[in-house]
Amino acid sequence: MDRRDFIQQLPKAELHLHIEGSLEPAMMFDLARRNGVELPYADVAEVRTAYEFAGLQDFLDLYYAGMGVLRTASDFFALADACFRRVGADNVTHLECFVDPQAHLGRGVRFEDLMQGLDAAVRQAAGRGLEVSLILCFLRHLSEREAFGALEDAAPYQGNFIGVGLDSSELGHPPGKFRNVFAAARDLGFRLTAHAGEEGPAEYVWEALDVLGVERIDHGNRALEDDALVARLRRDQVPLTLCPLSNLKLRVVPDLRAHPLKRMLDLGLLATVNSDDPAYFGGYVNDNYVRAAAALDLGEAELAALAANSFKAAFRAGDDSAG
Ligand code: ADE
Ligand code: ZN
Repeated sequence: MDRRDFIQQLPKAELHLHIEGSLEPAMMFDLARRNGVELPYADVAEVRTAYEFAGLQDFLDLYYAGMGVLRTASDFFALADACFRRVGADNVTHLECFVDPQAHLGRGVRFEDLMQGLDAAVRQAAGRGLEVSLILCFLRHLSEREAFGALEDAAPYQGNFIGVGLDSSELGHPPGKFRNVFAAARDLGFRLTAHAGEEGPAEYVWEALDVLGVERIDHGNRALEDDALVARLRRDQVPLTLCPLSNLKLRVVPDLRAHPLKRMLDLGLLATVNSDDPAYFGGYVNDNYVRAAAALDLGEAELAALAANSFKAAFRAGDDSAG
């Protein structure tokens, strides 16, 4: 069987996808027209040319600007519905999906409209066999006080979220900055994850584990710089949600052949493959598997192990037996 077909037929969980990062340029233009928002691009081709990033911050600047076209409940429904259909087409049966409410509330969107649109898309996905749980991410370039504000605003919708996460500009914003709000979220029953070790040092991964008490690490690439940390991640089988195409586009790795995915598997770590921001980085989860497999020469046993890991790493037990 050809490698792409083999990957396609593996049931998978996707655990690291930002819903706002699934905003395809064509939809960006449609929504901009509908909502009277001016874009700094003439057409879709020009958007694609702009997607050359020097690093994480360079990407985030365009990511926050792009999501400015999302205003109403029906915009959020359109975004999520298109995303979930695309995710399901890759034979993903379970999706744990990040949402950045602060990036929307800060520009006047109502939490109620955000949730109404997302929830309608989640329900429709369930009818097609894709189980979706949402994860509320705090923006780490903002203060912990503002993160508490988001947690309070989310209280009426707690049933829609399985957990909280931490994303946005990593360097200069260590996980420990959010220790109190993560403790509060845990007391409320949220599961915990955080981006760490994408651009930030191994020290940020330690902090996410020991100060925030997270169960999963999003990215975690730089953990390999610290042998004691590798031993800890292996001992506790802490899941790492890796995103190869994101790492390539954001210059976390110079080339996919230098990606740490295979080294992590060889070290006995619980590595998973995910897409991060598929509309910006050139592919959904199967593309990430295919490109990483080609660059790192991953065989069928390794690919099957990665798919199995994705269900082990999920907050909510998914069904990995369905075809
Ligand atoms: N927000 C969306 N994508 C992100 C990434 N790769 N790292 C940090 N924050 C993000
Ligand atoms: Zn991410």
